[in-house]
Amino acid sequence: MSRIISLTNQKGGVGKTTTSVNLSVSLAVSEVKTLLVDLDPQSNATTGIEELLVAPNGNIYDALIRGTAVQDVITKTKLDYLDIITSTNDLVGAEVELVGLMAREFQLEKTLKQVSKKYDYVLIDCPPSLGLLTLNALTYCHSVIIPIQCEYYALEGLGQLLNTIRLVQKNLNPKLVIEGVLLTMYDGRLNLSKQVADEVRSFFKDKIFKTVIHRNVRLSEAPSFGKPVLLYDANSTGAQNYMSLVEEILNNGN
Ligand SMILES: Nc1ncnc2c1ncn2[C@@H]1O[C@H](COP(=O)(O)OP(=O)(O)OP(=O)(O)O)[C@@H](O)[C@H]1O
Ligand SMILES: [Mg+2]
Repeated sequence: MSRIISLTNQKGGVGKTTTSVNLSVSLAVSEVKTLLVDLDPQSNATTGIEELLVAPNGNIYDALIRGTAVQDVITKTKLDYLDIITSTNDLVGAEVELVGLMAREFQLEKTLKQVSKKYDYVLIDCPPSLGLLTLNALTYCHSVIIPIQCEYYALEGLGQLLNTIRLVQKNLNPKLVIEGVLLTMYDGRLNLSKQVADEVRSFFKDKIFKTVIHRNVRLSEAPSFGKPVLLYDANSTGAQNYMSLVEEILNNGN
């Protein structure tokens, strides 16, 4: 059975894409068959992995809105165990175009259903909003990873996200669970990071991943080379943190 996970937080710049890309790649090098779906019009997951793409195909907008067969929008990568569905800026229009469709919250599920079975994990990189694209991801997935940046206002807006998750559970996807809350950009030298981490831990308790993603310059440099951190600097803290996260997720039995 494949497990479908959305990387969601409507707050911008918290590490959704960094986690989507590096978690996918770390799963793939662990020989876990993985599909990364870039569901953000900013296309950061697509460009962040560009060096790995083999003969780029169509994109998520083609499949979601133009009705292109999903098999025709899957792009292979240089890693045997990783495929990606890329995104383009066209996807901006999808937020509006989906509104007019029947069962508009189920379009992503309808689109990906036939192919997701071929993968052990499908990771969906969501945009920083709670619009229809994110709603489609939440309606389709089994679980959500919520990255939280260890900075001021980390918890701001989380009430709204949790409320949206509850509404989706009630009305669209009763099976939806929180896979885990992930602390990102943690800096052990800063009291602030520690305070935020404590605050998030006391709020989410056992929902927090034991693995913490430290602030690591290699993680922020890698995308400009179109590479995941594991192929940019395998010995970096960032690469190690994401490998630990894979171990934790696989050990959770999901
Ligand atoms: N652990 C980290 N250490 C250092 N820099 C990081 C780390 N995680 C993410 N970054 C950097 O922080 C910025 C935001 O990260 P990212 O793009 O993953 O966030 P996002 O939540 O996907 O943003 P958006 O909401 O715009 O989609 C990027 O420049 C990224 O390279
Ligand atoms: Mg992003």
